[in-house]
Amino acid sequence: MPSDKSFAKLPGFRDFVPAELALRTHIFEAWRRVCRRYGFMEYDGPPLEPLGLYVEKSGPEIVEQLYNFADKGGREVALRPEMTPSLARILAQRSRGMAKPIRWFSIPQLFRYERSQRGRLREHFQLNADIVGEAGVGADAEVVAVAIDAVSALGLGERDFVARVNDRRLVTAVLDEAGVAEGHRAGVLAVIDKAGRAGPAGTRAGLAALGVGEAAARALAELVADGSWDHLRDRFRSSGPVLAAMQPLEEYREILEAMGLGGYLSFDFTVVRGLAYYTGIVFELFDRAGEMRAICGGGRYDRLLELVGGEPLPAVGFGMGDVVLGELLRDRGALPDAVPACDDYLIWVEPAQRSQAMKVARALRRHGRAVLYGLAPRGVGKQLRTAARLGAARALIIGPDEAASGTVTVRDLASGRQDAVPVELILRGDGAGL
Ligand code: HAM
Repeated sequence: MPSDKSFAKLPGFRDFVPAELALRTHIFEAWRRVCRRYGFMEYDGPPLEPLGLYVEKSGPEIVEQLYNFADKGGREVALRPEMTPSLARILAQRSRGMAKPIRWFSIPQLFRYERSQRGRLREHFQLNADIVGEAGVGADAEVVAVAIDAVSALGLGERDFVARVNDRRLVTAVLDEAGVAEGHRAGVLAVIDKAGRAGPAGTRAGLAALGVGEAAARALAELVADGSWDHLRDRFRSSGPVLAAMQPLEEYREILEAMGLGGYLSFDFTVVRGLAYYTGIVFELFDRAGEMRAICGGGRYDRLLELVGGEPLPAVGFGMGDVVLGELLRDRGALPDAVPACDDYLIWVEPAQRSQAMKVARALRRHGRAVLYGLAPRGVGKQLRTAARLGAARALIIGPDEAASGTVTVRDLASGRQDAVPVELILRGDGAGL
């Protein structure tokens, strides 16, 4: 009896048949190209890590989503849900003696037990690009530039997506000014993080549930409703700490404007990021239509390396997933052209010509051409149709006449033009044969 459900794909996981893998490869190639342009070096780590690496460092949201278990040696382990703790662990062991700043990137597959929905799966690939060892705002600007270019290299532009930026130090200064007690800070950040989805009423309810005072809750709800830069500056014009905390973002904007990327930036007070370790400027990339979840998220995390036992090093970076980006490319019709299965389709007409065809195929492949042929005898007409279906540029025909005259009939499939090419030329790898 054929078995059914027991071998069904797990929910939230993907198969990559060639057409789907082609999109993934297209995305990865663009990411790698852009990272290299900015001088980043590629690294990787293990997909399985000690559970303790994530507990507390990443924050409760991600810990609830862990795929974790005890291995056969009794170790508590987890499939990596994000790359940043692994990067911190790797550098904690190796960064001493390395030239700073370190510019590294990676494209790990990550695992989170989330409720699967559009743009959210239980596995995804994520470009991570991080600069470690530089505290200046120049590094923050550099990583957001990489993120913007990593999306624009795929054919999307200023009209398609936006970088929403904020600064955790600024949010902290505002919370202090609004009178939010320090013990409420983490909870309030979580409420602000969800404000976009919760709306003003939901935000007020969330703040009330935390026990935040009436006046503070009103001030925050007002900022969530209008968190524009001008409103913030106006509202806190007499607060030295808030104005000082606005400075780094002013400098950040200047650098990105000089790079020609200012049009992508939009200040957004509700972007605080769900992960626990961020300490400074944070950002997320979104599609302008606002239909999808974040394409990318990141920011500064200056204390994480120390937390995992390394030298205290400032760090900033981002993670960009392949899922939302892939959907956006599909929606915008920015998918890669299909890659033909071969350049040349070789047709041997009778078994007697097969060994000559194999020699020709070998010579062509040695010279870098992608070559296919029938693995069993078939009619010529059928083989020509196969050549066209596979997208071959040329059909090379070896029948009894060609074998007798030492030639190959080379047909250009786009123009239909046909030439008799001496087989010697092809075997030597020169002339019209290639
Ligand atoms: P994150 O915001 O958790 O950040 O994830 C970054 C991006 O990964 C998201 O914007 C989204 O595109 C994608 N992503 C996350 N979870 C899923 C999922 N379940 N399904 C599909 N895509 C997903 C981090 O992971 C940080 N470690 C990024 C970072 C690097 N910060 C500094 N350096």
